[in-house]
Amino acid sequence: MALFTKDTLESLRERIDLISVLEPHLDLKRSGASYKACCPFHEEKSPSFIVKRGDSHYHCFGCGAHGDAIAFLMNHLKLSFEDSVEQLAERFGVHLQKSETEEPQGPSKKLLKEANEEACAFFHAYLLQTEEGHQALDYLYRRGLDLDFIRAFRIGYAPRESKLFTKALAKQRAILEEAGLVQRGESRPFFQQRVMFPILDAAGSVIGFSGRKISEDTYGPKYKNTAETPLFKKSKILFGLHQSRKRIAKEKRAIICEGQIDALRLIQEGFNFAVAGQGTAFGQEQAQELIKLGVNHAILALDGDDAGRDAAVKIGHFFQKEGVDVSVTILPNGSDPDTFLRTEGPPAFSKLIDESKDYLSYLVDYYSQGQDLSRPAVKTDIVQMISRRILDWNHPLMVHESLRKLARLTQVPESTIEAEKYRPADVIVKRVGTLSQTHVDPDRILETDLLRWLLAVGQNRPDMVELICYNIKREHFQTPVCRDLFVHIIEQFEKGKSCDLLELSISIDNTEEQFFLSEVLQKRINRERARSGIEETIKRILERHWLTKREEIKSKIHSGTCTEEEILELAKQFDELKSHPPKVSIPA
Ligand code: UTP
Ligand code: MN
Repeated sequence: MALFTKDTLESLRERIDLISVLEPHLDLKRSGASYKACCPFHEEKSPSFIVKRGDSHYHCFGCGAHGDAIAFLMNHLKLSFEDSVEQLAERFGVHLQKSETEEPQGPSKKLLKEANEEACAFFHAYLLQTEEGHQALDYLYRRGLDLDFIRAFRIGYAPRESKLFTKALAKQRAILEEAGLVQRGESRPFFQQRVMFPILDAAGSVIGFSGRKISEDTYGPKYKNTAETPLFKKSKILFGLHQSRKRIAKEKRAIICEGQIDALRLIQEGFNFAVAGQGTAFGQEQAQELIKLGVNHAILALDGDDAGRDAAVKIGHFFQKEGVDVSVTILPNGSDPDTFLRTEGPPAFSKLIDESKDYLSYLVDYYSQGQDLSRPAVKTDIVQMISRRILDWNHPLMVHESLRKLARLTQVPESTIEAEKYRPADVIVKRVGTLSQTHVDPDRILETDLLRWLLAVGQNRPDMVELICYNIKREHFQTPVCRDLFVHIIEQFEKGKSCDLLELSISIDNTEEQFFLSEVLQKRINRERARSGIEETIKRILERHWLTKREEIKSKIHSGTCTEEEILELAKQFDELKSHPPKVSIPA
């Protein structure tokens, strides 16, 4: 987790030029000392999105969207807080200093990215401009990948001869090694004789490669990927995410396939909400990356073979467990999205998505395959296998509904499936937290929710900020880090600096709090239900406070240290409190 020092953020603030951050994403028109564009945050025909020259905030007079460069990248590109800061720092030449100590020694991430970018340009040119490259080009053409595709995704070729690569990239060995481009301790390139698919980070910079061999004689596996580097964290990489991120965040759904070629081909054919993990090794962390983007529907489009069918069970579980609906497309035997698109065309693939099976029906079919369901023992086994899976999910309502559905699908009485819940052998072993939350502290979650609302609506809903401040004071917080952040945010509002994320991070000089701020910003919320969400959260905090106070009085009474008179007084206070449960007050 990146925690930036105050100085770094200060110098970043000085250098950011908002116009040039917005320019690539909007059609900005100059009008006097301002720039105007159609607002990217709501549908409109005439521009109401305005930035004054030299100003560090944008504002939309249509929908009230308001924010700084970080807010823009977070909201428009759906980047995380840290990725936004990193992208801006890179862009404006600010060296990011992190307050964290465990940052690895060695070349900076910027140098590693530069090396990867250069390598990408080299491989791409090598593919298009050399004789050896043209053999690889032939291979790609034979596979039905055209020049547009190759250019769009900057596909390249890594030559056979080592020196060609090492000479072209006249960089320090340490950098090339650290970037995963050269084998450690040897001067041999990591990739040789392979078609190279660059892998991009959220900002579109190359952070690694996947190289496919084109001849059986080449040493190594069919696909070889960059080894773990400071830039390239295998368990989190999603191929195609750079191209698909926006639509995934907008539509809250994603297609998950096995191969990089599948993902790229889908993107090229207009399904630009597709990603691939590392083949069937797609893991929980990758699911988590998508969930962070807001995905609530995962569409699995895995290969039509046994490995693909098994992987659908496993990958689907990662999503269902976190409350995300899963559907599974059924590809014909022996095909994958790439071959399917080539032979059947995009409309057929759309149809495949429409006809995909929901996860539960898929599980029933998967486990029933080749089984004789008329035998009670067989059926019991299948029902048990599936209900145990369901019981591992984290969302009680989804578990409940799914068990009922399972009963319908398998035509057994609901009561027998309900009984599964209580079988002693599999009393649910709940893990302690998921990847995103290491421990679950309901007080902290509640308070974090309030802060999240405050940050989300603070910019354009002063009435909501007022509502919160009117009801909630610092003493209502039980978690110190939440209380401190609350105080900071409110101070910002009072200074009239309506929620400037950069300003806010600068005002915080405590690492725990910074860490926490990015945790708060991580999760997205539905602004449309701000009013009810905020009222609900305030109410719960007030109630909690009220209950705590009652408990305090009670324990004083029972402590045995009070005089009779004091006890009477406390009892009066207790009754008084009890007869006045808290209400959310609306400011006049
Ligand atoms: P596949 O074998 O299905 O590859 O593996 P593919 O995508 O269909 O590739 P082509 O069409 O033969 O070129 C699916 C994915 O598993 C990972 C790769 O990400 C691959 O795209 N994989 C496969 C590896 O990482 N290493 C391997 O040796 C093979
Ligand atoms: Mn495949």
